[in-house]
Amino acid sequence: MSQEIHGWEPEATRRAAGDAESSRANRGWWDRNADEYQGDHGAFLGDDRFVWGPEGLDEAEAALLGPAGSLRGLDVLEVGAGAAPVSYTHLPFRDGSFDLACSAYGAVPFVADPVQVFREVHRVLRPGGRWVFSVTHPVRWAFPDEPGPEGLSVAASYFDRVPYVEQDEQGHAVYVEHHRTLGDRVRDVVAGGFRLLDLVEPEWPAWNHQEWGGWSPLRGNLIPGTAIFVCERDRRTW
Ligand SMILES: C[S@@+](CC[C@H](N)C(=O)[O-])C[C@H]1O[C@@H](n2cnc3c(N)ncnc32)[C@H](O)[C@@H]1O
Repeated sequence: MSQEIHGWEPEATRRAAGDAESSRANRGWWDRNADEYQGDHGAFLGDDRFVWGPEGLDEAEAALLGPAGSLRGLDVLEVGAGAAPVSYTHLPFRDGSFDLACSAYGAVPFVADPVQVFREVHRVLRPGGRWVFSVTHPVRWAFPDEPGPEGLSVAASYFDRVPYVEQDEQGHAVYVEHHRTLGDRVRDVVAGGFRLLDLVEPEWPAWNHQEWGGWSPLRGNLIPGTAIFVCERDRRTW
């Protein structure tokens, strides 16, 4: 993710980063970079479709939000979408406002406490509503974030939950990502009040030749790059 900001290169490290620091850093980062992100990836993501990640899995084919045609007329919340304001872990909506919530790589990896996000999504969903979100596949954290062969050798512990932080010369975080193992994510989903219906690991399709950061055909054919959690809200109230 590292890139130049006003002529200086942030330093990439792994260190602790709490809720407030993560929110502040990521709000600033996405405010500065949303246009560039959209410029780089908007054509691939498209204006009239829902793509779950760099593999290109299209919701029209995957139907993870529900069977085709069944979504018409539903109230749908997209969490941490490109154009949405960042750092809303407290969602500005009344209890039970939505039938469905979704997020493609938005918000979840960028917060220190994903259970808080899940509880908020639970609160604003109606009973039985789905919450479907995609994140970097947890296995990727053990490998360098490189698209080529150097990205194929384990370089760090999969079990190391210390956040990935990019920081300025004063040591202030400018970008933060939080790693959770697969087991952590399942526990977080359950702690947030959801049942896990499916865990989808999209395979790299033959038609997709693009590199997107560390996601590439080379790596995509060997190790999973995206995990999509398909969850259903239980009937608990908080
Ligand atoms: C990788 S982009 C994904 C954007 C879009 N969903 C897509 O598929 O391309 C990550 C998004 O997460 C959002 N985000 C980051 N931290 C957040 C937070 N604390 N609360 C809400 N959204 C956040 C950013 O605004 C950004 O749009």
